Amino acid sequence: MDLGLKSILGIALLSALMGCQDAPGTAVEFGDAERKQLGRLSPLGDVPPDPTNRFADDPNAARLGHWLFFDERLSLDGQVSCATCHVPTHAFSDPKSLAKGMGLGERHAPSLINVAYGRWFGWGGRADSLWMQALGPLENPLELGGHRDLIADLFHDDPDLKRAYETTFGPLPNESDVTASDEVFVNVGKSIAAFERLLVRGNSRFDQFAAALASNRSDGIEALSDSEQRGLHLFLTRANCTQCHLGPNFTDSEFHNTAAPPHPEGRRDDPGRFQGIAHVQGSEFKASGIYSDDRNGTTANRVQHLVKSSDSFGAFKTPSLRNLAGRAPFMHQGQFEDLDAVLHFYDTREGASVTSHHQEQILAPLRLSPSELSDLHAFLGSLEGAALDPSLLVPPAGPSLSD
Ligand code: HEC
Ligand code: HEC
Repeated sequence: MDLGLKSILGIALLSALMGCQDAPGTAVEFGDAERKQLGRLSPLGDVPPDPTNRFADDPNAARLGHWLFFDERLSLDGQVSCATCHVPTHAFSDPKSLAKGMGLGERHAPSLINVAYGRWFGWGGRADSLWMQALGPLENPLELGGHRDLIADLFHDDPDLKRAYETTFGPLPNESDVTASDEVFVNVGKSIAAFERLLVRGNSRFDQFAAALASNRSDGIEALSDSEQRGLHLFLTRANCTQCHLGPNFTDSEFHNTAAPPHPEGRRDDPGRFQGIAHVQGSEFKASGIYSDDRNGTTANRVQHLVKSSDSFGAFKTPSLRNLAGRAPFMHQGQFEDLDAVLHFYDTREGASVTSHHQEQILAPLRLSPSELSDLHAFLGSLEGAALDPSLLVPPAGPSLSD
């Protein structure tokens, strides 16, 4: 064999090997930068631990929380529960734009699927733990409108609830004890949070594709159609979505001002994160407070480092883009009725609110072609995770696992 032929064979071998790096069969090429981003978007992974809640992964607590999530007796008029606004068959979100409980609220009730992956809760991040978050609506006059004293009474009066409580938390505190209702109240929050931690949907077709690409396997690539792959590529590159929607749950868990126009019946100057920071800092239920089970941990320290700056005015939490199907309308006031309306807004910036002075400079119109928009839309549809266990969508037989 002469040297020329050898080197031709060598080059052929080398390029065949390099060819393997672009896993065969992708509709568009995913370069190193894109692959790196994919590694930060997938897989979803396990729900992160919550040391501020000792009962976060306690099955008895989750069962009690599951029951309480649907229990309308926690509300002032006996007709509102968490499920009134976080409708289980609507991805635990609200089909209405603005939430309505005891009264009409100012924001849209977001989906609770994968909520336990978050760092801050509420559109403005008014809570730093899931259990702290759950305590808000219980006493908010526009939501359940209840009161911790009445909630404690309910536990004393209902033998099934009392038994469920005592299985997890020990003896129900005596009603004459001044801190009794606070203690019960906090444990109600911790149980509901334990339930919410079960609302997880990962392993979407997108994750199968990302896993195949990461290991240069060709099987799994077909999990995404050509159009979905092109949409994914746009998502990572020109459409700039990963500027904010980055991380295993497709969010940076931070706050941004997208200047989405307000809902016709919505508030025009919602302070968003600006108010959220003040709320979490002032709350007795924050992660560094006396009811937390980890007062000096990472979550507690986070609040210490928050700076209340005017830049946070009108900024809202980046929502997850996993499991978008069946949870319209979108944004903090539910101002966009479907995904096409959201994409149209990012594409044109039409109607961008001029009332807010601290808009993000990074959001410029994308001006994608109609077929690019439809690719992007198709890709977002590939983020549907495996279905939830149907038993989570309805109230359980009783508040205890033995019921
Ligand atoms: C009246 C409707 C309504 C009811 C009832 C209600 N919520 Fe909500 N929920 C909302 C709205 C609106 C928001 C957004 C609030 C904000 O931005 O501060 C929200 C936000 C949340 C969040 C934050 C999600 C995230 O991604 O940050 C969680 C968790 C949550 N609710 C759980 C509950 C629980 C648990 C209950 C019952 C104790 C409950 N909600 C009752 C309307 C409701
Ligand atoms: C500057 C950060 C940023 C960028 C860039 C960005 N988003 Fe968002 N996205 C957000 C924030 C913040 C919200 C919530 C805004 C609100 O409620 O007012 C949001 C909301 C959404 C929603 C609604 C989800 C829901 O549950 O309500 C969708 C869908 C969405 N973005 C998709 C995209 C896509 C697709 C791109 C790329 C074209 C993109 N986003 C780029 C920050 C961003």
